[in-house]
Amino acid sequence: HPPSTPMQGSTSLRWANCRAKGGAPGFKVAILGAAGGIGQPLALLMKMNPLVSVLHLYDVVNSPGVTADISHMDTGAVVRGFLGAPQLENALVGMDLVIIPAGVPRKPGMTRDDLFKINAGIVRTLCAGVAKCCPHAIVNLISNPVNSTVPIAAEVFKNAGIYDPKRLLGVTTLDVVRANTFVAEVLGIDPREVNVPVVGGHSGVTILPLLSQVKPPCSFTSEEIDYLTSRIQNGGTEVVEAKAGAGSATLSMAFAAAKFADACLRGLRGDAGIVECAFVASQVTELPFFASKVRLGRGGAEEIFPLGPLTEYERAGLDKAKEELAGSIEKGVYFIRKS
Ligand code: NAD
Ligand code: LMR
Repeated sequence: HPPSTPMQGSTSLRWANCRAKGGAPGFKVAILGAAGGIGQPLALLMKMNPLVSVLHLYDVVNSPGVTADISHMDTGAVVRGFLGAPQLENALVGMDLVIIPAGVPRKPGMTRDDLFKINAGIVRTLCAGVAKCCPHAIVNLISNPVNSTVPIAAEVFKNAGIYDPKRLLGVTTLDVVRANTFVAEVLGIDPREVNVPVVGGHSGVTILPLLSQVKPPCSFTSEEIDYLTSRIQNGGTEVVEAKAGAGSATLSMAFAAAKFADACLRGLRGDAGIVECAFVASQVTELPFFASKVRLGRGGAEEIFPLGPLTEYERAGLDKAKEELAGSIEKGVYFIRKS
């Protein structure tokens, strides 16, 4: 692959060359869908991340403007923009981490599964590009419905002969971020002190907060458990309704995606003890994919933790989650196998 020609507004070539000569400590990160509601604030946050040496911003529209804007930030990462399908490959060559928030968002009254028709094809195309140009990159998949798009990506990677389940991660961090916030509100403490494991998947009843495993240890009344479970499961819909047709969560999602990407980069660097929830290929249940706590390392999701002891309430939630998840996973797999 020839080196890409940065579009106008990208970081100056002189600084890019200077960083490259200095060994450019840090990682190369691409955002696919970088001009979108999530993509723009996520690009901002990744440009602020000192672990990022090179930031590629790809979209089918508006990436030149976003790139010009972000490239004026006086942080270290070299920024380059890429516009449209002919530039996808140059956006991807050499990347260590690819974050994918490309695709349409929900409007009020829609389920995440209603997005499948459009987003399945987008994810297929982008993942084929990843397989060809940066087959060893870690992939953070945000596009909905995550419960189906992750199986789609896995099938694309299998067909290309490069599938490593440890490197494909569906981003469910927003569920954890919401759970931490809502639990902290109930407990009257700082949300930064709270850690709620959220397992299962990323849609309705498949979002299963394990309130019996909250850190710091605490207890809830059954009314609080009902309230918190329902609020966490419907957090996305709460935002979709408040935005009233203007899209779904973008700012809190960009925050969550940046948090998760930073954890992946620290894992890649070799830091110890990096644990986050993510939707991954899994043997934690009988389903082929499941979200649970994973340990992030140089190879991606290097260890997947079991669910731990569940309450009766959580076991009933798990049964419901698994029933819906099974269909969503199958739908994603079938989308690729039939074509
Ligand atoms: P948006 O419409 O604001 O932005 C999407 C961007 O994707 C647009 O800029 C669009 O041009 C781009 N795009 C479309 N097709 C593309 C392609 N083939 N290649 C590259 N880019 C392409 O939407 P948004 O609010 O940013 O949401 C994006 C996706 O993220 C939606 O599917 C949404 O449901 C999902 N989402 C997931 C989570 C999660 O927790 N995993 C949270 C919020 C939103
Ligand atoms: C979310 O949880 O906010 C996202 O999945 C977007 C949505 O459609 O709810």
